[in-house]
Amino acid sequence: MITKAVLPVAGLGTRFLPATKASPKEMLPILDKPIIQYAVEEVQKVGIKDFIFITGKHKRAIEDHFDKATELEERLIKAGKQELLKKINFFEHLNFAFIRQKEPKGLGDAILCAKPFIHEEAFVVILSDDVMDPDYSVLKDMIDIYEETKSPVIALEEVPFDEVSRYGIIAGKKIREDYYLIEDMIEKPEKSRAPSNLAIIGRYILTPSIFRYLEKLQPGKGGEIQLTDALRALLSETPIYGYKIKCQRYDAGEKFGYLKTIIYFALRDPEISDDFRKFLKEQLSCI
Ligand code: G1P
Repeated sequence: MITKAVLPVAGLGTRFLPATKASPKEMLPILDKPIIQYAVEEVQKVGIKDFIFITGKHKRAIEDHFDKATELEERLIKAGKQELLKKINFFEHLNFAFIRQKEPKGLGDAILCAKPFIHEEAFVVILSDDVMDPDYSVLKDMIDIYEETKSPVIALEEVPFDEVSRYGIIAGKKIREDYYLIEDMIEKPEKSRAPSNLAIIGRYILTPSIFRYLEKLQPGKGGEIQLTDALRALLSETPIYGYKIKCQRYDAGEKFGYLKTIIYFALRDPEISDDFRKFLKEQLSCI
């Protein structure tokens, strides 16, 4: 059974400067919740209660967000604002651990920081920039594949060939609909070197064997320790499966993707969707 999720949140968020100069990009709001909360809610839906955040400098706001806010709670109780109280206490039955990545040496290095806390179990890795449609559980499908194969599973999505250099890209054999046996992978290839347009998306189920490869790894693309390189090396000892996601995914880690994420959720928010639709129509008719 998978009981732990690792959430690397040490990234600098340079695409959102100056907004991220002093506060984490994971705390940027999508309507009334920060990006990171969408990731935590997605994970808790599959019954995982233990969260390991790999943090860096200027990430204290994430710890505070998942901490009890006693003073605020008292005020809300006094004011009879039960609904708001529920909103800030969504995490009470969950456990959070925070580990500092000593230097920003890449995603692979961040995952390696979780090693002392993982022991022998498989675990989930969530990159919170990739926001999923909350009505569909990509993780549940991936856990089903893991239970069947006991091998690592990676989420995939077809992306336009012009965008392959933004992702880890795989070569693989389709075994079933939406289900691949991975044969090779390369981190952020040039378009001309990409073996396919199947991109790795920020949901992974990993087994502890990955740590042995991460420990030995030399810096790769961008001078960073790349998870994709460790997974590629791991292919020599275990099959790795790819699961092509069926739901909508937004990249909230860049400006336009972030805006699309907000619009997606705003159009589905019962409180504002009607007014928002009206507003959008008005705006579009003016141009
Ligand atoms: C990371 C991974 C990359 C993957 C991507 C998905 O890159 O290294 O393989 O395709 O996440 O979002 P990043 O976007 O953190 O640079």
